[in-house]
This record gives sequence, structure tokens and C-alpha cells, in this order.
Amino acid sequence: MSLLDRIDAVKQAAMSELAAAAELPALERAKGAFLGAEGQLTLLLKELGTLAREERPVAGKALNAAKQEVELLLAQRRSDLELKASLPKEPTDFSLPGRRRPLGRLHPLTLVTQDIIRAFRRLGFVVADGPEIEDEYHCFDALNTPADHPARDTQDTFFVDAPGRPLLRTHTSSVQIRVMRQLPPPIRIIVPGRVYRRDNADATHNPTFHQIEGLYVDRGVTVGDLKGTVEAVFRELLGADVKLRFRPHYFSYTEPSLEIDFTNSLVRKLGKDWLEIAGCGMVHPKVFENVGYDPEVWTGWAFGFGIERIAMLRYGITDIRLFYENDVRFLRQF
Ligand code: DAH
Repeated sequence: MSLLDRIDAVKQAAMSELAAAAELPALERAKGAFLGAEGQLTLLLKELGTLAREERPVAGKALNAAKQEVELLLAQRRSDLELKASLPKEPTDFSLPGRRRPLGRLHPLTLVTQDIIRAFRRLGFVVADGPEIEDEYHCFDALNTPADHPARDTQDTFFVDAPGRPLLRTHTSSVQIRVMRQLPPPIRIIVPGRVYRRDNADATHNPTFHQIEGLYVDRGVTVGDLKGTVEAVFRELLGADVKLRFRPHYFSYTEPSLEIDFTNSLVRKLGKDWLEIAGCGMVHPKVFENVGYDPEVWTGWAFGFGIERIAMLRYGITDIRLFYENDVRFLRQF
């Protein structure tokens, strides 16, 4: 076989070995076999020296061309096999949980409710619950609210079109009645829950919102206990610079009745001196009679306030509707 034929044969062999190498080590072995110090192409190069002077240029050119082709294929195969080696051996399971899964957040109203509950629990209160679809007895009659009270008007209250004239409770005070009719005194409860009123939606009103009711019944309970308890809780919720003011008011289920105004640096920043925040008072003897407690023995106080209002104060929110829109740009901030 002439040298030119052998060059061609060695080149073909090199090309097919490089193409067949399935892993990087096999590729490197093939490289050594043809281009290494003792490789077949290298040996052919050494053979050039033994040729007659006039035969060398043609053979040299052919050998160089063969070597270049082999080196080009080697570089290509190397980059292919390196890429292959860097890919995972097992198929990827994209349904596996990631390392940092976003877990979501609690709604600001939930956060505030939890804080209020925590503060009252520390004082020995327990959480009570009641139905949102109520009847007139628990929502009004038993709370000493007369039949001609405006809250009993369809203008103010959502009535359900069903036998017995059920309604959507207008306040959590209905749960006071349910608990007292079920349990003997002493009582120390708070009741977080949703209430409904025929308010038109605007920046500070919504047809449904949330309240927290408090009820404390025992022997010898005083207005002083009420003020002390409410003050301690509000300080904890909204900061030590909180000031409360108790104003005389009227509720049919308390006597005396008071409204609680609130102020702190946030309220003043809103350009207001005081903000009305809760209703409260000493439980009316008629209410005790209605639930079968002896008003000569038992005394108590009760209060009710809106959770939204406290959350708005705490977070500087000026539009109540943000709580219900569930816009993640809003919710992500808490
Ligand atoms: N139920 C009242 C309201 O919705 C708030 C309230 C006032 C609750 C006085 C009470 C209370 O328990 O004693 O506006």
C-alpha cells in the first residue's frame, strides 16, 4: 500500500473511532491511539523523513490535511461528550417540592384577631363562637332591644327570606346570650366573628365586617375592671402611647353604657384627635334575667369593637375594601 493510501486508511480509522467513543475516557484513548507520541498518525509523520525528497510535499500535505480533519472531529466530539457528562443521569421529576416553597401569609385581619385573642387569653378569657345566621331573639330581644329599635328595620339589617324571620347577625353580642344561656357564671369570653349590616360600601364601611365581643360576669365586677382590662389590651395591640377616653353612651343591653375613644400618634397623623373604637358597659339587669342569671348576685361588663378599624390603625390602611379584594400585592405586605 502506498503511503498516501495508508494515510487515508489511518484517517478513516481515526474518524470512526472518535465517532464511536461514547464517553470522554474512550475519546481520550482514541486521541492517544492516533495523535499521541506513539499514535498512528504521529508514526506516519515520522515516516515522511524516509521518503525521497520529491515525494515528501504531496505526502506531507495529505498527512496535515488528515490530521486537521481528525483534530476538528476530536474537538467537536469532546464538547458533545462534555455536555452529555454534565446533564443529570436520572430524568428530572419536576413535581418534587422545591427547597424554598412560598407558603403564603396570614390575612391582616387574621393577624390582628390572633393578637387580640392572645392578649385576652393571657387575662383568662376563652374564645366562644356562635352562628352568623341568627334570630331576632338572640340578636335583639334577649339583649333588651325594643321592637321599635332601628336595627330591627329592614333598612339596617339583612333578613333571610325563610320561616322564623332569620337574619344575618348585626353584631357579635348575640353570642353573649347563647353562652350565658348555656353556661352558669362566672363567664370570661371573647367572640371574634363576622357581622352584617346594610351599610353602603365606601372607604370606611362595608356590608360585612368583623367584631370582637367581650363578656365578663362574676361577683362584684366594676367599671374599673372594664377600663383596666380594655386599656391593657389596647396598649399591647397598638403601642404604649395609646390613650383611651370613656364617654357616656346608650346601649339597651348595658347600664351604664360607654363609648371608647382612642388616640395615639397614628390617629393624630390622620389629622384627628380621637377615634371612636368600641362600645361597652355594665351588663343590664334585664339581660341577666333573660338568660336566667340572678342580677342581685351577678355583675358583669361587656364590650364590642370592630377588628377592621384596629387593623386599619395598626397598618395605616385608609380604605377598608382592600381587606376583601384579596389583591396579592396588598396581602404580601403583612
Ligand atoms: N354591639 C355593639 C355594636 O355592634 C357594640 C357593643 C356595645 C357591644 C356595648 C357590647 C356592649 O357588648 O356592651 O356596635
